[in-house]
Amino acid sequence: MSALQCLLACFMLSLIALKSPCLGTGSASCSLQIGKVWLHTYTGVIVCNDVTEDMLYGWTLTIRFGKAPLNLLLWNVVEIEDPNNDPLVKMYEDNKYNAKLLSGESLYIPFKSDYNGSLPEVQGEITLTKKITPGITTPAATVAPTGTTQKPTNYDYNDVLKKSIRFYDAQRSGLLPDNDIPWRESCFLDDTCFGHDLTGGWHDAGDFLKFSYPMAFSVTVLSWGIVDYYDAYVAAGEAEHAVKSLKWATDYLIKCHIAKYEFVYQVGNPGDDHLYWGRPEDFTGIRPCYTITASNPGSEVVGEAAAALAAAALAFDKVDSVLYKDYVILLITHAKELFEFATEYRGEYVSVDGYYSASTFGDELAWAAIWLYRATNEQVYLDNATALYTEYNLKGSSYSFAWAHKKTGVQALLCKLVDFSYCVQVDKFITNYRPGGVLTYTPKGLAYRSPWAPLRYAAGAAFIALYVADLQTNATVAAEYKAWAKSQIHYILGDTGRSYVIGFGVNFPTRPHHRASSCPLPPEACNWGTFSDPGPNSNVLEGALVGGPNATDVYFDDRENYYQSEVACDYNAAFQSAVAGEFNMTEFHSNF
Ligand SMILES: *[C@@H]1O[C@H](CO)[C@@H](O)[C@H](O)[C@H]1NC(C)=O
Ligand SMILES: *[C@@H]1O[C@H](CO)[C@@H](O)[C@H](O)[C@H]1NC(C)=O
Ligand SMILES: *[C@@H]1O[C@H](CO)[C@@H](O)[C@H](O)[C@H]1NC(C)=O
Ligand SMILES: *[C@@H]1O[C@H](CO)[C@@H](O)[C@H](O)[C@H]1NC(C)=O
Ligand SMILES: *[C@@H]1O[C@H](CO)[C@@H](O)[C@H](O)[C@H]1NC(C)=O
Repeated sequence: MSALQCLLACFMLSLIALKSPCLGTGSASCSLQIGKVWLHTYTGVIVCNDVTEDMLYGWTLTIRFGKAPLNLLLWNVVEIEDPNNDPLVKMYEDNKYNAKLLSGESLYIPFKSDYNGSLPEVQGEITLTKKITPGITTPAATVAPTGTTQKPTNYDYNDVLKKSIRFYDAQRSGLLPDNDIPWRESCFLDDTCFGHDLTGGWHDAGDFLKFSYPMAFSVTVLSWGIVDYYDAYVAAGEAEHAVKSLKWATDYLIKCHIAKYEFVYQVGNPGDDHLYWGRPEDFTGIRPCYTITASNPGSEVVGEAAAALAAAALAFDKVDSVLYKDYVILLITHAKELFEFATEYRGEYVSVDGYYSASTFGDELAWAAIWLYRATNEQVYLDNATALYTEYNLKGSSYSFAWAHKKTGVQALLCKLVDFSYCVQVDKFITNYRPGGVLTYTPKGLAYRSPWAPLRYAAGAAFIALYVADLQTNATVAAEYKAWAKSQIHYILGDTGRSYVIGFGVNFPTRPHHRASSCPLPPEACNWGTFSDPGPNSNVLEGALVGGPNATDVYFDDRENYYQSEVACDYNAAFQSAVAGEFNMTEFHSNF
């Protein structure tokens, strides 16, 4: 393509997929893809595919717009000044932990922006430029010797359950009087929102932010496992521990409900939080809070919180209905009010920084109604659930069963509670995930939904498959679902010669992207030097499921590779429940 053609092509880019075809010496082919458009806000992602050369010391990203964008926010990058001070040009650089980009890799930067009138178009190419001076030292990535170890024939599910629950204990924020994670202490004792105490809850992932939406999703799905695979928890001796661990999050979600129609969706500023590498106990920045109100609705979040508290009520009741009698009433009271809030003031969640806000809410409303029905036995909620299912057309397959997507969970539960027609819908999802469906498979058999933490998607789908296997009338189908679910869970537990659960099995990850566990015990320093240190994390983050391998089963046990090595509350939730389901289906103790 000549320079002139290139120029012309670049100016004729369409609004929806602004792919830049004409990179001369550039380092990748980048495009801005618009995802969702609301009245004054839109979100999307900047994708740079197939980086053409190794970038060991970081990169800069430059975007030129036709008119100045309003409040443009990009994730995981640091904004820098354009040397020419051109208001139409936006420049960013890597955020240290994503500095290293190797040839052939791709970069995904989600964004959120306001707009007035028309969306600002990108002009010309989006460039990704390599930094040539060493900013930080980068450790050599260590690749797992996959396939070298004999595949174990069985796994100690009991041990996995114990450790997975312990992972949630390591994520605890606030005052920890009964802490038994030796490298953790109380922290963030000043978290408040408009004068309300907001200490407690779980840190979201490898950072210290508290996001109510994925936290509530984790509570719902963990509760689901405790309630319906209760025998697995009892057999593992973990039922009491499981609900005690859950209570750290449910107490917090109750605190978030600061007024009838006001709910805190986030504590902490991602920019400040992500620029800090250290112990949670040593963080000194300000932690703002953000709320959903009647005039700023977020039905996904409030609906998921209602589902979480209702599902948790069932779990607490199951484990000890006497001890938790009043608590169960409290949970149900909040769940009912939150359901009313989510349905009276319907609207999509647009979070201040765009985190966790690419979703729709019809699934969460039906999901909340189902959990309320299960917790209260009040028929009105089941009627609400089926009505919402129809209103939001919750038929068909879904991208995933994970923090953003509950549709398949709704179908699975309605199949159990109403009739088998809903299982016909679930089957579409499972068919897509099984070999021959729409997903690609890694050579060693992982259903590969996304390079960003593929294991959580495989675990979510495995949990659903296990759950509906029991509802099948056709024994062949039930057996196929179970075998497939087992293949995915066993992939995670070590079938490829490495376990993806920290502290469990053979050759597990030792360098997770997780600040607290990376830090040596005080008084030793913990900072970006710790992050860049090629050695293992100082502490073993027991039970955490990491993001997972690349599409050809290669895992970089590298703190900097957060797509693969980060951990998160929502990753472990469906995984833990799927392991409970596996356990429940096995004749107790015969598996190990
Ligand atoms: C939006 O555009 C209108 C018309 O051009 C202008 O009057 C208004 O001030 C703009 N609002 C913002 C927030 O820029
Ligand atoms: C739930 O059902 C009741 C009784 O039919 C109805 O009054 C209420 O509006 C329904 N709520 C939703 C969210 O559909
Ligand atoms: C059960 O499912 C299998 C696999 O899909 C199918 O081949 C078989 O015909 C089904 N059996 C019945 C009785 O429907
Ligand atoms: C996975 O990583 C290995 C090692 O860097 C590389 O050879 C392989 O091409 C990668 N696979 C994919 C699909 O990116
Ligand atoms: C779990 O196992 C117990 C004991 O075998 C059984 O009664 C129960 O139905 C199982 N639950 C599920 C959901 O399979």
